[in-house]
Amino acid sequence: MSEYRVKKGRPIATEITVPGDKSMSHRAVMFSSLSNGPCLITGFLPSGDCLSTVDAFRAMGVRIDFLDEDEEPWIPSEEGAPGPTTLRVHGSGPRLSASSRPVDCGNSGTTMRLLSGILSGQPFTTVLTGDESLSKRPMKRVTDPLAQMGARFEAQEPKGNPPLTVHGTASLKSITYTLPMASAQVKSAILLAGLYAPGKTTVIEPEITRNHTETMLKHFRVKTVREGKAISIYGGQIPESRDFFVPGDISSAAFWIVAAAIQPGSELVVRGVGLNGTRTGILKVLLRMGAQIAEDVKSDPDDGEPWGTLTIRGGGLKGTLIEGEEIPNVIDELPILAVAGALASGTTIIRGAKELRVKETDRIAAVVSNLKQFGVNVKELHDGMEITGSEGELLKGARVPSFGDHRIAMAFAIAGLFSEGDTVISGAECVDTSYPGFAAHLRHFQSREVSSGRSTPVIDRLPGGREAAED
Ligand code: S3P
Repeated sequence: MSEYRVKKGRPIATEITVPGDKSMSHRAVMFSSLSNGPCLITGFLPSGDCLSTVDAFRAMGVRIDFLDEDEEPWIPSEEGAPGPTTLRVHGSGPRLSASSRPVDCGNSGTTMRLLSGILSGQPFTTVLTGDESLSKRPMKRVTDPLAQMGARFEAQEPKGNPPLTVHGTASLKSITYTLPMASAQVKSAILLAGLYAPGKTTVIEPEITRNHTETMLKHFRVKTVREGKAISIYGGQIPESRDFFVPGDISSAAFWIVAAAIQPGSELVVRGVGLNGTRTGILKVLLRMGAQIAEDVKSDPDDGEPWGTLTIRGGGLKGTLIEGEEIPNVIDELPILAVAGALASGTTIIRGAKELRVKETDRIAAVVSNLKQFGVNVKELHDGMEITGSEGELLKGARVPSFGDHRIAMAFAIAGLFSEGDTVISGAECVDTSYPGFAAHLRHFQSREVSSGRSTPVIDRLPGGREAAED
């Protein structure tokens, strides 16, 4: 088990690029695998979760080559080496081949849920397995609608947990389905199954969730139609082979964005980061709390996903209320926003976020328990929490567990930057599921050089490529 040892950080005046977006990296591999020819993916996130998706499609007969690494498998490096980020996926069309072995989805809910949709339309049987954390996560939310479309499933008690056996069929039926919870993974699983069903499949969301499946399918020339909270897809469309650039993950940048927002006088520039409006809710929350944030979108919105540069200037943060329609937009950022609330003045309330209880761990219980260790006054709610801010005072450094959850580990490493004494995060190896190189960035934010004016970019994710083109 690895651990992070964190001490109080220095004022921030730096530039950073973060590894590729996790949601987009999964989908880039999936949609290019189902396309009708070779696709070049740049900016791919070589994290544990996304490599599970690559392995899954290879097991189902798709040729995927890493173009910037001689050795495979690539092992994430504590030193921050970005790993292979350029892939050629040789799409062979929507029909896959049966895997000769169970497909291991590792820790990745996105892999298992979106694959369940795709596999529902394949006329063969596949067994999907996962690690201990994924095996506790509910899959009934995808198997219920997919069964209505005609696929059959075998899963474990109590919530249709993995291992999950998917008996796909060549004769799926289209449906109209109202989601019982706001989940982009469930929406995406149904839309992907809808590609294999004749006619129109419609998903109605209670609240708008991240729309990468829709925007990226459009990039691969597959049309979806949005009418209010309903999204429809017509079956029989074949993704066209296209290249795709994956911008940096705003959910990874969130840790440094919050670190900068907390400190009056800090300035952080984040380059090459994804700025899809269904993911930028964290910026709105931090603006409300008193940070200054400038967004500069560089990309062509008709070609792939929007991305650009963010500049964050810190102010003394004040507490806020995070609830309702905003929740799905910030769902992965709530642990780090809770840390922001703990260092703000006044009270921060998060409610309507019970989905947090079924993430890689129960993130409400984990955040509340760890904040208490840092001396924060926090009350657990059934669907969120109420945090009394420290009014800008340092927290009390603590030894806390990651609960095997990457976002908990990273959020509390940031808390350590704003704490007196030593902080230790145990079980930090889970961070490689989404942010290989986080430890190296954390060291950078603690080092003296950061305090003396703007330093060089923390990593140059795309040397000579998109980053250079931005200037
Ligand atoms: C994701 C959707 C969200 C998010 C997860 C990635 C996606 O999950 O928490 O990290 O890529 O579609 P839910 O759909 O369960 O909310």
